[in-house]
Amino acid sequence: MYADLDRPPLRTLALTRALAGDGWRVEVLPEAGSTNAVVAERARAGQAAGLVVVAEAQTAGRGRLDRSWVSPPRAGLTFSVLLRPDLPAAQWPWLSLWGGLAVAEALRERAGVDAELKWPNDVLVDGRKLCGLLAEVPEPGALVLGIGLNVTTSAEELPHAQATSLKLAGARTTDRDTLLRAVLRSLTTVLGDADAARVSYRERCGTIGRMVRVELPAGRSVEGVAEAVDDNGRIVVDGVPYGAGDVVHLRPA
Ligand code: BTN
Repeated sequence: MYADLDRPPLRTLALTRALAGDGWRVEVLPEAGSTNAVVAERARAGQAAGLVVVAEAQTAGRGRLDRSWVSPPRAGLTFSVLLRPDLPAAQWPWLSLWGGLAVAEALRERAGVDAELKWPNDVLVDGRKLCGLLAEVPEPGALVLGIGLNVTTSAEELPHAQATSLKLAGARTTDRDTLLRAVLRSLTTVLGDADAARVSYRERCGTIGRMVRVELPAGRSVEGVAEAVDDNGRIVVDGVPYGAGDVVHLRPA
């Protein structure tokens, strides 16, 4: 009973109306396996960019690097947006980074938390993960950007000790309607100016300048100083650019 009061459903009609002006078409599903899978299927069926599918409960949420994403019903925001970006192929990796940037900026402004980014797109507060993003390409020219944000998730409900939620981080608001609107508006702003987005990403990326371990897809890992994010969105560690992998922040350089 308490959880229900603490976790009200999204106000679909109000959301749809509020975001239509920015070109977002919002659909709220009571339950889905993975919103990324739902939007990917719609993309392959010819849906235009701007579709946003939100699931109040997600039963098979997917994470990066073949992980899963678990969140109790209405404890967070789990949603995916369909983009059809007009961007050269070499710049596409930036899209998932810009998704993280849009979330971080929205949360700083609306929720008053000190959100920073861990390359490529984890959103952290006090070094703990608040939000993860999964970008997938279901067909040439289309990109599905899936966003999982922990909102009222309790410490017991979180998947591991390095995760957190807005509530646990002392956010100014945990109203999911407000947060979803803020994130989508921020995404519109970020995607509207690629040059500014690259600059802002580098400012918000807490990975740059740190000692890190990069766990590479083949099981190999490297340690060194993360010097920069290059013009193709790759993290540069001791002079070598890496385009995929999991970064662990070790300590300030
Ligand atoms: C990660 O940090 O590993 C990425 C997590 C992405 C989770 C979101 S929840 C909404 C969307 N649907 C999915 O199946 N995954 C993404």
